[in-house]
Amino acid sequence: MRLLVCLALCLAVSPAWAKKSGKKARAGARPAKAATAVSPKKEITLYQRLGGASALTAIVDQFVANCAGDPRVASFFTSTAADAARMTRFKKNLTDQLCEATGGPCKYSGKDMKNAHDTMKISNEQFDAVSEDLTAALTQFRVGTREQAEVMKFVSSLRPKIVTVNS
Ligand code: HEM
Repeated sequence: MRLLVCLALCLAVSPAWAKKSGKKARAGARPAKAATAVSPKKEITLYQRLGGASALTAIVDQFVANCAGDPRVASFFTSTAADAARMTRFKKNLTDQLCEATGGPCKYSGKDMKNAHDTMKISNEQFDAVSEDLTAALTQFRVGTREQAEVMKFVSSLRPKIVTVNS
């Protein structure tokens, strides 16, 4: 008899206990709500970190000015500098190339780097000089060290296509 009373009491108490302790899911209960998903951080492109279109245009203007004023390579750019339309096209191609390479929305439509430079007989020293002129432009526009390194990594990848003379 005592056993029967105890059993009856246990059965009566168990749903309340289960509810409190969470041991048993309530009938029809929804699964626990997932923690609000944290939206993944949007990847910021190098192009955006550089400052986008206007920053790139300013950097390219400065880069070309640095090359034109650099006695180590200035002679390469004299005919370009003498022809306004040619200079505009050159700067646009340079800007588009850097924009595309850094994840921007542009499409480079100029010549491939081999065709553009193969008759110029460019040496490693001259390539280094132009690279320094670009680095100077990036520094002049306060581009950070990390971004400069990323831009220059792309530029370095072009060396084998641009340099055709040993030095
Ligand atoms: C350092 C990496 C370099 C990059 C990213 C680069 C990029 C370019 C691009 C995008 C063009 C335009 C091609 C076209 O119009 O279809 C170009 C043309 C040219 N590049 Fe380079 N170049 C580099 C190195 C050099 C060097 C080292 C020299 C000479 C020392 C040089 C001299 C020229 C000249 C003279 C042109 C023709 C400009 C014109 O259209 O009148 N480049 N380059």
